[in-house]
Amino acid sequence: MNGLNQRFDPGFVWGVATSAYQIEGATSEDGRGPSIWDTFAASPGRTFEGHTGDVAVDHYHRWPEDVALVRDLGLGAYRFSVAWPRIQPEGRGPAEPRGLAFYDRLVDGLLEAGIEPWPTLFHWDLPQALEDAGGWPERETAERFADYAAIVVDALGDRVRNWTTLNEPWCAAFLGYGAGIHAPGRTEPAAALAASHHLHLAHGLAVPRIREGRPEARVGVTLNLYAVSPADDTGRHDDAARRIDGLMNRWFLDPVLLGRYPQDVLDDLAGSTGLDAIRDEDLDVISAPLDFLGINYYSRHVVEASPWPGASEVGFVDRVWPKTASGWDIDPAGLGEVLRQVGADYPSIPIYITENGAAFDDAVSEEGTVQDHDRIDFIAGHLAQVADAVDAGIDVRGYFAWSLLDNFEWAEGYAKRFGIVHVDFDTLARTPKASARWFAELARTSSTKE
Ligand code: NOJ
Repeated sequence: MNGLNQRFDPGFVWGVATSAYQIEGATSEDGRGPSIWDTFAASPGRTFEGHTGDVAVDHYHRWPEDVALVRDLGLGAYRFSVAWPRIQPEGRGPAEPRGLAFYDRLVDGLLEAGIEPWPTLFHWDLPQALEDAGGWPERETAERFADYAAIVVDALGDRVRNWTTLNEPWCAAFLGYGAGIHAPGRTEPAAALAASHHLHLAHGLAVPRIREGRPEARVGVTLNLYAVSPADDTGRHDDAARRIDGLMNRWFLDPVLLGRYPQDVLDDLAGSTGLDAIRDEDLDVISAPLDFLGINYYSRHVVEASPWPGASEVGFVDRVWPKTASGWDIDPAGLGEVLRQVGADYPSIPIYITENGAAFDDAVSEEGTVQDHDRIDFIAGHLAQVADAVDAGIDVRGYFAWSLLDNFEWAEGYAKRFGIVHVDFDTLARTPKASARWFAELARTSSTKE
């Protein structure tokens, strides 16, 4: 452990994370309606070799085994997401009792195993019916989300304390509606911008609905944040770095935590029709006080200015650098930078690392073990940064490894394994990797300080 365990308070939250579409399967069971990810994955050419979440890792049926895995690892918290199309198959209207019953069983199972449930209400699986009505670029979707949140909280709020509204709205808006590489696969920059605002509004409208009648509830949002640096220190690329930091980080942090969009980004985007979605009065709703910020950290972006004078485009530099199997730079120092930046710019918000982890090409040995020391190094390196940030006075209270299980990695299908538990995608057998044992030991010794 290299003393890493000694560096965390006994009360530090140790957990693992998953999301519904990536693990559940059973996409047409118990009244679940289709989501945009069902549609997207079923469309030719959208995902790696046409992979879908139809079966995923069958968590919908194997959840008791998965809860037992978390329990056996001795982890105190489990972050999962609730599938909106299981609760409201059409994205609106009365709740589907069988869908709610699944999460009811899961929450009870977690609590019986001594594991704190940390549900996220939206991890990208928008009901297809809402996309057919326009999706996140439509304001009404935000209102539907608040209704859905109220239904889930009404059912589970007596046992769940920590609620996360959205997971990575940047991805849902910009990869889904801008780049088109995530569901629903649209490539409409204005729609992406409007989607980002309506995701913020959805979050803001949901916060009071979660708190209603539940004064003990703690509410947060999870953002994917990046370290962003200019390609060199000549100053030529600093504005490119500002732009990317603005669009990927501050566009999501500022409205929620400061009640305003960053002026420099608004200036960059001046004239974009998507900005029409923003109404001044929305910002009060969006900035409803929160109890925590969830940060998902994976990597750094190194950016450069366009070679054309005056052009606003920026480029992403592919550094010669150690990378994960996803091709992402392994850059733990970036997490430290992100934490210090958030600590400086938004000083009073408690932070949880709600995701951090890596895909590696795990080899299964003849004995069936996975010695994923690259993943252990990855997590240890990032945790050392978390410990440094805590030492520097940043209020980081927990860390969730992504992910409990190898799973459906969105457009990459099953080709990228992020689990600390290996899943054989043919037999669906689960086998903890070396990283799971290491992480469990770290959590155990850090909580008990033996
Ligand atoms: C962030 C997302 O929340 C999660 O769904 C995804 O699998 C991981 N990043 C890895 O890409």
